[in-house]
Amino acid sequence: MDKKKILVLGGAGFLGSHVVDALIKNNYNVIIYDIKKSKWINKKCKFYKGNILNLKKLEVLLKKVDVVYNFAGISDLTDAYKNPIKTINLNILIHAKIIELCIKNKINRYIYASSIYALSDNGSFYKCSKQAAENYLIEYNKKEKINYTILRFGSLYGPRSNYNNGLYKIIFDFIKNDRLSYFGSSKAIRNYIYVKDAAKICVEIIKENYKNKIIQITGKKSIQINQIMKKLSKLLKNKKKIEYKNLNNLNHYEKNPFTYKLDYGLKCFLKKEQKIDKCITELYNFIKNDMKVKNENQK
Ligand SMILES: NC(=O)c1ccc[n+]([C@@H]2O[C@H](COP(=O)([O-])OP(=O)(O)OC[C@H]3O[C@@H](n4cnc5c(N)ncnc54)[C@H](O)[C@@H]3O)[C@@H](O)[C@H]2O)c1
Repeated sequence: MDKKKILVLGGAGFLGSHVVDALIKNNYNVIIYDIKKSKWINKKCKFYKGNILNLKKLEVLLKKVDVVYNFAGISDLTDAYKNPIKTINLNILIHAKIIELCIKNKINRYIYASSIYALSDNGSFYKCSKQAAENYLIEYNKKEKINYTILRFGSLYGPRSNYNNGLYKIIFDFIKNDRLSYFGSSKAIRNYIYVKDAAKICVEIIKENYKNKIIQITGKKSIQINQIMKKLSKLLKNKKKIEYKNLNNLNHYEKNPFTYKLDYGLKCFLKKEQKIDKCITELYNFIKNDMKVKNENQK
């Protein structure tokens, strides 16, 4: 059977490049579209350098594929916090324009990289963009029947990550400063998932039964940060006290990211409302009169 052709937006990045490797391992034909070339790009795929803002260039590639993964855009909380408008543009507006191009070009499935922050009150503008991006995708599905899968990733770790990544930062800073420190609280809890495991799930979800579903991709086990820090301390042969800076100016979640409450607004009622029968009769009379006036004006 002919394997599906796949376009990976942001396929040169941390997560995207691992997903590309996993797709190629499963014999898919893969094309990457990314603003920058990285050394992680798999030699068995085609790489096109470009910005997702360039929709004309993107559409040429969309015509060649069946499935699109979108890992491109603002992926970091700090970056989103510093650049809210850019985040709206790349993570929401361009995402919606890409969905419309996918509809136009009859793409079989649009797979979107969201985050568990989409279900959280934490995460500032990054969270806002993920919530909005998910909502737009679901509404496009209702309106235009575009098939989607939303992947809500938790804390990923592994090779090819960078200084924006939690565990990378801790280890990098230790190597540089000989200090083992965590920006937040020792009691923070994470369900870390190794990026290559996450990538395997990203391939699995191409199957039909994951169509139009939201999938949570996190590690099975919850682990407290102080446990992770103790493990790192042993591994890195750290002799000094572990530091917890208890800073959280960017609103990272501490224990449970799933804190999002639907806000329906306040309910406000009149003590005594008009009776509906009377009001409908009044409306009926108004419409009849309105029609009569319009008819007379037409004579
Ligand atoms: N890494 C995580 O822990 C994690 C957790 C939850 C969700 N996610 C989501 O997964 C996706 C990928 O995350 P990542 O950690 O691999 O990030 P990353 O920054 O390593 O990868 C993003 C890739 O997109 C490319 N890109 C950015 N802007 C672009 C543009 N305008 N045009 C074309 N390409 C562009 C970058 O060059 C990069 O290669 C993001 O949407 C992120 O929000 C990641």
